[in-house]
Amino acid sequence: HVVSILGERNRELVIMREEMEEASSEMIYTTDDGSFGRKGFVSHALTDFIAERGKPAIVFAIGPAIMMKVIADLTRPLEIPTIVSLNTIMIDGTGMCGGCRVAVGGDSKFVCVDGPEFDGHKVDFDLMMKRQRTYLEQEGEARRRFLEMHECRALKQGEVLGESQSDLVEVLDPRHGFLRRHRLPGDFHALLLLEFLSGHQLTSTPSVARQACCSRYLLRAISSSSR
Ligand code: FES
Repeated sequence: HVVSILGERNRELVIMREEMEEASSEMIYTTDDGSFGRKGFVSHALTDFIAERGKPAIVFAIGPAIMMKVIADLTRPLEIPTIVSLNTIMIDGTGMCGGCRVAVGGDSKFVCVDGPEFDGHKVDFDLMMKRQRTYLEQEGEARRRFLEMHECRALKQGEVLGESQSDLVEVLDPRHGFLRRHRLPGDFHALLLLEFLSGHQLTSTPSVARQACCSRYLLRAISSSSR
C-alpha cells in the first residue's frame, strides 16, 4: 500500500499528478497557499497521517534539502526507516567535481557514486545546506548577468520552427505530461525544470542561468495552459 504526499507551493505548480496517482494507492496533496489539497507542507500531512493511521513501514522523501531534513527529523524519533534522495545536489554526476560530497553517518560520501539514495537519519543536512549556500553570492551575480545578456536558444528555436506558444503548451501541459520530451525544442532540461517546480533552489550548478531561462519559458507556457 503506497501513500504519496505531493506538495507544491501552489496549484499551478502541481506536476506529475497522473503518474503519481497511477503509482500510488492513495494520494495526499498539499500546497503552501492551500490552493490545491490541504494547506501546509508535506511534513504536516505526514504528521497527521501518522497520528491517524499509525507508522508507515518506510518513508521515501524526495525534494528540497530542507524538506528532507524536516521529514528525517520527524521520522527519526519514531524509528521509521527513511530514505532520502540527494540527486539534486549533483553537478557533473561522474565523481569528478566533488560538488556532491555529503556526510552520511560521519563518513564522506559522493551522492553520484555512493547514492543518490541514503538513510535520511544519517545524512548531515545542516552541513549539506551550508555547502549549498557557499557560492550564493557568485551564483546570484552570474544569474543576473546571464538573464541580462542571454538569448534563450529554446525560445528562439521554437520561433524558428514556427511553433506557436500554444503548440508548445499542448506538449508541456502538465496534465498531459510535459516530460514527453521528444517534441520539446532544443535542449530543454525537463528534469531540471522539475527541480525548479518542486521548489529546489536554483543553485549549485554552473548552468544555473540556463536553467532559470528555460524554466521561465516553460513556466510561462505552463501557466498559459492552465488559464
Ligand atoms: Fe560531481 Fe558527484 S556530482 S562528484
